[in-house]
Amino acid sequence: MTKEYVTDERRLLHGGDYNPEQWKDYPEVLEQDIELMKKSGVNTVSVGMFSWASLEPKEGVYDFEWLDQVFDRMNSIGGKVILATPSGARPAWMAKKYPEVLRVDSLRRKQLYGARHNHCYTSPYYRSKTQEINRKLAERYQNHPALLLWHISNEYGGECHCNLCQEAFRGWLKARYDNSLEKINQAWWGPFWSHTITDWNQIESPSPIGENLVHGMNLDWRRFVTDQTIDFYKNEIVPLREVTPDIPITTNFMSDNPEFIPFRGLDYSKFAKEVDVISWDAYPAWHNDYEETYELASKVAFINDSFKSMKQKPWLLMESTPSLVNWHQYNKPKRPNMHYLSSMQMLAHGSDSNLYFQWRKSRGASEKFHGAVVDHDGSAENRVFKEVSQVGATMDELSAKIVGTQRKSEVGLLYDWESDWALEDAQGFGLTTKHYPQTLQKHYQAFWEKDIPVDVITKENTFEDYRLLVVPMLYLMSEETIKRLNNFVANGGTLVSSYITGLVNERDLTYLGGWKKELQEIFGIEPLETDTYYPGDSNQIVYADQTYTVKDYATVIEVKNAEVLARYADDFYAGTAAVTSNEYKKGKAYYIGARANEAFNREFYNQLIEELDLKPLLKVEHNIGVSVQGREEADQTSIVFIMNFTEEKQIVNIIEKAQDSFTGEEVTGEITLQPYEVKVVDKII
Ligand code: GAL
Repeated sequence: MTKEYVTDERRLLHGGDYNPEQWKDYPEVLEQDIELMKKSGVNTVSVGMFSWASLEPKEGVYDFEWLDQVFDRMNSIGGKVILATPSGARPAWMAKKYPEVLRVDSLRRKQLYGARHNHCYTSPYYRSKTQEINRKLAERYQNHPALLLWHISNEYGGECHCNLCQEAFRGWLKARYDNSLEKINQAWWGPFWSHTITDWNQIESPSPIGENLVHGMNLDWRRFVTDQTIDFYKNEIVPLREVTPDIPITTNFMSDNPEFIPFRGLDYSKFAKEVDVISWDAYPAWHNDYEETYELASKVAFINDSFKSMKQKPWLLMESTPSLVNWHQYNKPKRPNMHYLSSMQMLAHGSDSNLYFQWRKSRGASEKFHGAVVDHDGSAENRVFKEVSQVGATMDELSAKIVGTQRKSEVGLLYDWESDWALEDAQGFGLTTKHYPQTLQKHYQAFWEKDIPVDVITKENTFEDYRLLVVPMLYLMSEETIKRLNNFVANGGTLVSSYITGLVNERDLTYLGGWKKELQEIFGIEPLETDTYYPGDSNQIVYADQTYTVKDYATVIEVKNAEVLARYADDFYAGTAAVTSNEYKKGKAYYIGARANEAFNREFYNQLIEELDLKPLLKVEHNIGVSVQGREEADQTSIVFIMNFTEEKQIVNIIEKAQDSFTGEEVTGEITLQPYEVKVVDKII
């Protein structure tokens, strides 16, 4: 039931979270908002995320007047409204009267009223109240021309351990294990430490003061949390589908900060199937002191491409800051031109919007110093407002070319939530050096530096859509995944995997009898041991006559049919295989046995890029730190963003024919990019 979410005018969305309910006593501010929106090229606001107390100040007493005004005002300037359902925070009266809506934490402590994002997602009362208010919103605004999109709740996440949730968990387990405790005990390895279960009511969610070392159960609990959250979401959207069947639906996803890895709390590969359009909130810590700007840019690109790949459709940037946030360790404002550059990066990777948190800085409470389009000075003259307006003007100009265009890729890099959860939980390897998502980021970066588009996929994607599949550290592999990978290679695909792959099944039980025979056949090797290093340890591998440093992990490999591409230099396995390749049926499979440094990744993937003749959207020669990404239009033309994510001037050489997207002037050949500059070009075919 996928809906088209773009406006009739097919324009890129520019705007963001708007909280007029905080300004009801300041009518002059609300008037000014509309004028400033026009000035900054804002065409869309998201409203109502945390407005329940303003919408229903007393139980059963509603006030929509302030929201009516937002709709009408936006409409008067040709703007649109993304309407949020308010379940992300609730009124105090509700928590007092119906305490079941409040969460219980893993220590079994009932939370007090306060903050937000802390409701019980099983509570029947909260579910029915949510439906009730959502229906009221839908009925009131169903015919309003400004209504563009539903924004369900806000950044779903977290878990509740109340008795209602315990019962729901048991019900979920009964369904998954055919009502059989015997099956649960088998799956969870029950006899270990006498953890055999003999009655359903002995099952309790994981807790630091209770059960937390039964890995199969921990994994099931995380799966349940995802399913129960999705179930809550589905409950929220019932009235919306009924009353406004043509209005598409999203909910805002996140990343995990500060490392900028995928959000670990929920399996978004499942959630993505339930929304009409994916949207997410991006808050990278630009200009930090622990990584190069381009490394962070590559991480942002990774998550963008992950959200893009879940639906293979354009997505929406639902929140971002025009300047700074208030919750990083150090809240540093974006330097001049960074806002423009980072906004263009979103468009380049498939976003049809640049939306901000927040339109106007609030006056009190915890977000009063969070960046916004409009600062406390209310001025259109400050640096941030001007840069936002520049983004608005550019988006207006590029809308017709960009909206709805796609990104295509021949490379799939697999990220799997379940495997991440299971590996993080595993007592073994280096407890703090597993770094599964971070390792994927590094593999992705090798392609990003060469401008080769990569889809960051999940098990839900079709492997056959790609020529190259990169699947490092897939610790948890079901028999089905193994079969699918086997078919992929057998039919001509190229596969890359690595150390710590294929060790446990979907119950988090290890495979018996050594590495799965199917994997041994695909890769032509058998990993015998995984050596885990202390942080001070290292090894070296020699690959294509160069030496590369290895840290953290080294697999000792027995070679069966594979060709050896690199060997270890040191330790008891010196001289043995570290990297191999194997022709399997019509395809080829590479195994990288050790965590080698970035220089190795670059060299290894460059060779593969050449061998498979993988191409960027537009051929541009440049140094590391410049990124060339873009989108393809239906008629085979492309819009390409050449982005300088460094603090230095960069000379780049555009090899293929291109023209400036704004002036139409040809730009083939050498051009200079200033620090943080972006050049938008059309590829000429
Ligand atoms: C997001 C949240 C917003 C706002 C923002 C601040 O996570 O959805 O409501 O709090 O963070 O950066």
